[in-house]
Amino acid sequence: MSKPVVLIAEELSPATVDALGPDFEIRHCDGADRQDLLTAIRDVDAILIRSATKVDAEAIAAARRLRVVARAGVGLDNVDVAAATKAGVMVVNAPTSNIVTAAELACGLIVATARNIPQANAALKNGEWKRSKYTGVELSEKTLGVVGLGRIGALVAQRMAGFGMKIVAYDPYIQPARAAQMGARLLSLDELLETADFITVHLPKTPETLGLIGDDALHKVKPGVRIINAARGGIVDEAALASALKEGRVAGAGLDVYAKEPCTDSPLFEFDTVVATPHLGASTGEAQEKAGISVARSVRLALAGELVPDA
Ligand code: NAD
Ligand code: MLT
Repeated sequence: MSKPVVLIAEELSPATVDALGPDFEIRHCDGADRQDLLTAIRDVDAILIRSATKVDAEAIAAARRLRVVARAGVGLDNVDVAAATKAGVMVVNAPTSNIVTAAELACGLIVATARNIPQANAALKNGEWKRSKYTGVELSEKTLGVVGLGRIGALVAQRMAGFGMKIVAYDPYIQPARAAQMGARLLSLDELLETADFITVHLPKTPETLGLIGDDALHKVKPGVRIINAARGGIVDEAALASALKEGRVAGAGLDVYAKEPCTDSPLFEFDTVVATPHLGASTGEAQEKAGISVARSVRLALAGELVPDA
């Protein structure tokens, strides 16, 4: 009897294949290459992806015997979950696999934007010893506004409290008592915008959150605020952010994610006050191993017709 086929559409930790074991035929494709994806997905039982592969309604329709879409990470905005469900395809992710890693990157971007570390590093390696140009701001006693106090937002809040930051948060789905347990005071979005010296975004990308930090919001911020987005591109509107940086309403930004990825050219990259990373939020060996093992287990269970636990 032939083995079920598992298609790996992006680079995943080698632990993923080890955890799948010998019971599957493993195939590979480049999920970011649309034609390659649409051809490869036709006759597989499961597909494993990160964030660069769009498993939309067209891809699901092209898949004749797909039973599982497994997302080795948190965000499911690149999967049409409704179309998958309608087609009887199970969608699984690894919701806790990379949260520490993603939170650590967000904290790194907060520190980097406060102290101009990447810019000073680049200048020094270019032979420039510029101490006053890269004078920064202290984090202690400043207010950090966490937009989205879920798993990652809470870890960022906890870590930045260790720097002496005061934590406020906007998340309409969290109770004030739960926020208080995490050391955060819940505010409305407008109150947070008016109060925070740093704003860090940890929301899923949904029709509701897309552009949430847009022109209107960026006109309400405390002058000199720094904005961090290590969640999803487009939640902070890129054109509105560029205007706010140009007009000095926003003093700096730390960005890991972009409306269109890969992104190698953006008006935002022209600002010396913008620290940019190429969607590295989940990119540690530890997180990738956890994500790979977690989705491999889920695929094994799902293809065996067994119950897949939530996390
Ligand atoms: P989570 O579900 O634990 O938390 C999200 C929080 O956002 C929840 O508390 C929810 O109540 C809140 N929320 C939802 N809609 C909202 C709205 N309209 N207004 C305000 N709050 C709202 O998710 P998480 O694990 O913390 O991850 C957050 C996001 O980070 C993911 O969806 C993913 O897109 C992104 N992420 C990025 C990377 C990266 O590599 N840069 C890595 C992991 C996760
Ligand atoms: C995620 O949502 O988990 C991140 O985007 C990380 C990734 O898989 O690239």
